[in-house]
Amino acid sequence: MVSFGAQVNFAVPHIQIRSLHKTYESQGQQVQALKEINLDIPEGKIVGIIGKSGAGKSSLLRTLNGLEQPSSGSIKIHQDELTTLDHHHLIQLRQRIGMIFQHFNLMSAKTVWENVALPLKISGYAKSDIKSRVDEVLSLVGLSHKAEQYPSQLSGGQKQRVGIARALVHHPEILLCDEATSALDPESTSVILSLLKKINRELGITIVLITHEMQVIREICDQVVVIDHGQIVESGQVWSVFSNPKQPITQELLNLEQLELPFQIHPSVQTDSTQTIVKLKYESEAQHAPDLTQILASFAAPVYLYQSHVDSIQQHFIGSLIVGVPQLDLNLNQLKQQLKSLIQHIEVIGYARPTH
Ligand SMILES: Nc1ncnc2c1ncn2[C@@H]1O[C@H](COP(=O)(O)OP(=O)(O)O)[C@@H](O)[C@H]1O
Ligand SMILES: [Mg+2]
Repeated sequence: MVSFGAQVNFAVPHIQIRSLHKTYESQGQQVQALKEINLDIPEGKIVGIIGKSGAGKSSLLRTLNGLEQPSSGSIKIHQDELTTLDHHHLIQLRQRIGMIFQHFNLMSAKTVWENVALPLKISGYAKSDIKSRVDEVLSLVGLSHKAEQYPSQLSGGQKQRVGIARALVHHPEILLCDEATSALDPESTSVILSLLKKINRELGITIVLITHEMQVIREICDQVVVIDHGQIVESGQVWSVFSNPKQPITQELLNLEQLELPFQIHPSVQTDSTQTIVKLKYESEAQHAPDLTQILASFAAPVYLYQSHVDSIQQHFIGSLIVGVPQLDLNLNQLKQQLKSLIQHIEVIGYARPTH
């Protein structure tokens, strides 16, 4: 995936966005919602776009199927440039791109079956074709038994499954999800996320989802793009961004544990300090977290544990330790050398005088 700057050469991307800008005019005011967006979405992957409210997520997603016209820039779906298509071709292209919404956007006066059939009806398909396809997608989302019910008779999770069935009727190659689980309880969220993953893996559909919830990214995305004030500020494989978030906004979205230690840390050695406080971070594809005895032995001194955290994402262990060692002249380079096969990042975060 490419964000600004570095050009990574992936195989032909499914969606290629270049120099995309979007400015809204509203009541004489200009709102710049997207600035210089450059992004490649690989085929068959699930890419999550995360950012705070107002960051520009919906604007970006809506330009991907022509619901929103960009102010400038290029969007290619495979080789087809979307921004210059006429109305007729845009309608054709939209059939290749399904979309689901936070509030489902179902028609309350129509049954589940009729809701799902509607896009096919509008496209003029024969009744028998409509019937077989609607039955097929309702079965895929596990709602065949609800076909004759109305949306008001369904739970939120079931409504979203109808939304997904409707988005799939035209055999799309891409599925766009705008906060698809934000209105759902945790249990329904996990059902919908599993369904999206199944659709991605079994049907090979590329999924682009936007969310403000890191949990969603963590559970199903292969790659993550962080957007802030209309710009991409960070992107990469989920485990990699999660293990080493570089931007403050990413750290905030990840809700990284604020450093809460039972004593004050001084950035430089204080005459009354008794310990050096060291932070160690690791990331590994091994079956288990690194061997603690090996880590602790490398200090060749007593080691006090003040904080530890471990997470498992995309078959990667990600963890951190904050320890205190009663050695104010700790040889950091030597420690890094000794631990280099286990620990990717070691830093002295300060000096303190813990009271025990
Ligand atoms: N139709 C519109 N007219 C004017 N301003 C808009 C419109 N849609 C969105 N915006 C503004 O563009 C910015 C990005 O909005 P949006 O893409 O909806 O962000 P997000 O989905 O991340 O919450 C916000 O400042 C929002 O107020
Ligand atoms: Mg939005």
